Amino acid sequence: MESRLPAAWRSGLSVLCRLDELADPGARGFDCGEGAARRSILVVRKAGRVYGYANVCPHAGAPLDWMPGAFLDEEGRFLCCGSHGALFGIEDGLCVAGPCIGRHLTRLTVEIVESGLECAAVTWPDAPAGPVIPR
Ligand code: FES
Repeated sequence: MESRLPAAWRSGLSVLCRLDELADPGARGFDCGEGAARRSILVVRKAGRVYGYANVCPHAGAPLDWMPGAFLDEEGRFLCCGSHGALFGIEDGLCVAGPCIGRHLTRLTVEIVESGLECAAVTWPDAPAGPVIPR
């Protein structure tokens, strides 16, 4: 499905996707910015709420998704790192199983913005300028 994102960019705010493009439960990954400033992030939806994290596992720094968009375990209860199987709480990013147990994913602030369509957007202090590209 082609995304019809509103032109709602403002300082530090990146509109990622329409809310109806995010399953519940479900997660999507995005690459933001360009070149050395590029960041990989994810948004995950559960029970009507949306959370955002840097797509960087605290164990070895790998991206969580073993293939584009594969962030959740089979039951959709945890975020799962594809490298060594660490499981993280969707609501708090806390590792509850695996080699980095007790550590957290880096949390991003997610807003639901509305500009004709409800969209999930994230803010973070050093947001890179440039495009937001679904992974
Ligand atoms: S890099 Fe994620 S569990 Fe090892």
